[in-house]
Amino acid sequence: MRENLLVVSNVFKSVEDASGKLSILTDISLNLGVGQTLSIVGASGSGKSTLLSIMAGLDAPTSGEVKLGGVNISSLDEDARALIRASHIGFVFQNFQLIEHLTALENVMLPLEISGEIKGNEIRQRASEILNRVGLGQRLNHYPRFMSGGEQQRVALARAFVVNPKILMADEPTGSLDHATGALIMDLVFDLNKEYQTALVLVTHDPLLAKRCNTSLTIESGQIKAS
Ligand SMILES: Nc1ncnc2c1ncn2[C@@H]1O[C@H](COP(=O)(O)OP(=O)(O)O)[C@@H](O)[C@H]1O
Ligand SMILES: [Mg+2]
Repeated sequence: MRENLLVVSNVFKSVEDASGKLSILTDISLNLGVGQTLSIVGASGSGKSTLLSIMAGLDAPTSGEVKLGGVNISSLDEDARALIRASHIGFVFQNFQLIEHLTALENVMLPLEISGEIKGNEIRQRASEILNRVGLGQRLNHYPRFMSGGEQQRVALARAFVVNPKILMADEPTGSLDHATGALIMDLVFDLNKEYQTALVLVTHDPLLAKRCNTSLTIESGQIKAS
């Protein structure tokens, strides 16, 4: 048995709007072990991104709980959750979400500056090393708008892994890339996950990609259908 890293128990999420209550997630429970890879598959609008946000403590469930390393993050205030996120969770998104006015190197330095564990030259050095690792050693001072989609996603991966997170959460990370570039990015994700012994939660609608993970869940209208 692998040690449980993230435990989601009976999570429900609903929102109220003018037309009444909308159920987004219904009774979701799942476990993620240390170093495990899990894919979440489902149609657009099925609730994948909402679930990922709740698993990361970015969003709070309406009921139920999420435990990260034994701590119930659903019960913490926003500052405490932000602190846990910064040191435990890396993110990559479909649209990269790099900071446009920062260079590749500055984007990757940022999480280290926020975490405050190391400083100055060491931050710069560690960020440069990981950009080298993802093949962008020649692009340190480039701005995102001058980089291809594949290059931007490499920067985003470097930014996610630079803090040595316990979990990488990836929300359709190849959704904006052509097939060949997407395949290279996914190879890099799986390689980095092994090197850093990071667990992976991969949201995708690509069944072939989903199969590369140890475990796969299908979500349909906010409910887990099969695993
Ligand atoms: N804050 C919100 N308010 C209202 N509806 C929302 C909100 N967040 C998500 N939804 C709705 O919940 C459903 C699931 O959304 P989402 O988690 O983004 O799905 P997916 O990532 O699988 O495409 C969608 O119907 C979406 O419109
Ligand atoms: Mg989504």
